[in-house]
Amino acid sequence: MSAPLTVTSLTAGYDQADVLHDVNLRAQAGQITCLLGANGSGKTTLIRTILNLTAPRAGRITLAQDDITGKPTHEIVAAGIACIPEGRKVFAKSTVEENLRLGAYAEEDKSAVIARMQRVFDIFPRLNERRTQLAGTMSGGEQAMVSIGRGLMAAPKVLLIDEPSLGLSPLFVQENFKVIQRINEQGVTVFLVEQNVRQTLKIAHYGYVLAQGRVVAEGNAAQLRRDEQVQAAYFG
Ligand SMILES: Nc1ncnc2c1ncn2[C@@H]1O[C@H](COP(=O)(O)OP(=O)(O)OP(=O)(O)O)[C@@H](O)[C@H]1O
Ligand SMILES: [Mg+2]
Repeated sequence: MSAPLTVTSLTAGYDQADVLHDVNLRAQAGQITCLLGANGSGKTTLIRTILNLTAPRAGRITLAQDDITGKPTHEIVAAGIACIPEGRKVFAKSTVEENLRLGAYAEEDKSAVIARMQRVFDIFPRLNERRTQLAGTMSGGEQAMVSIGRGLMAAPKVLLIDEPSLGLSPLFVQENFKVIQRINEQGVTVFLVEQNVRQTLKIAHYGYVLAQGRVVAEGNAAQLRRDEQVQAAYFG
């Protein structure tokens, strides 16, 4: 059920200013593709533009053979793209279970929803234990599980993940990356935005580096580790 996501000559931004300039990249089907880049380089803007939360100004976005450029966000989600947003953003006053159900709001088949929730609980037994707890009262790491779980409830072909390790302890970061790897092994195409370069390059098959809204490097993990831009920015 995986599909490649392709971004071609994409330009986008806010008000008068372009943030992304002629961005070309591809998240290969069934792989983990990462997007590295410093604060303000345009990573979240790219995710927002893929989902048409920010309108593209030029260029094209395709999911497998489908041109999804400029489609309404709900149609893009229905086509198979789910997003785990920056800062996690759980529905604080809803329970864990309600949060998960919201991730599958478009699915009318109740048994499919139950099966998906069971799969989420297999990955995160803690969420099963806490299914009636209000998500806003969970720890930061637990909220990260809720937000990943909610993304999985859509049974996506492509999962966009925006800085999942931000603000988590090293142990939790590692756990999170293992989970992302496991999700990918189940056949989901993953597009992972991160600043934790070391951990990310351990799990990513391929990656891109964004600087001031432009792709300035790309390659597999070994190539990116050697890349001067990456070295300068992240490894000192
Ligand atoms: N809603 C907005 N309106 C106007 N400008 C914005 C908006 N959101 C982001 N920007 C600007 O776009 C640029 C890229 O921001 P973006 O959030 O995409 O960066 P990022 O790479 O995700 O950074 P970070 O690592 O800090 O999350 C920044 O200069 C930012 O100020
Ligand atoms: Mg961001």
